[in-house]
Amino acid sequence: MKFNPKYKVTITDFYNEIIKISFTKHQYPNLMTLIADNYPEEFGECKGRGLCGTCHIKVISGTLSTPIQITEQKTLNTIYDSDRSSRLACQIMLNEKINNMTFKIINNN
Ligand code: FES
Repeated sequence: MKFNPKYKVTITDFYNEIIKISFTKHQYPNLMTLIADNYPEEFGECKGRGLCGTCHIKVISGTLSTPIQITEQKTLNTIYDSDRSSRLACQIMLNEKINNMTFKIINNN
């Protein structure tokens, strides 16, 4: 039997509720779908294409080594309160690189 380690992320929503979510590597296509499956609010309107910006999050703790691609950067540039800690959750893969990181959901609506 193959060992499939568990990782976890902490998500803070815009009401400052804290949600801890465990996952295995590539359990979902990306961080947006993991959050959407564990969070009662609508999250990720364009279903992960990197175009809508509704999955805007900010890195609160930890360092994300995954580089920002052109489409993600263009979408972030259209969001008024994005900054250097901003990312689109749909562009972040579920793997050991985000283990124990904390992200905040930003409400842009
Ligand atoms: S789901 Fe639309 S940009 Fe991420």
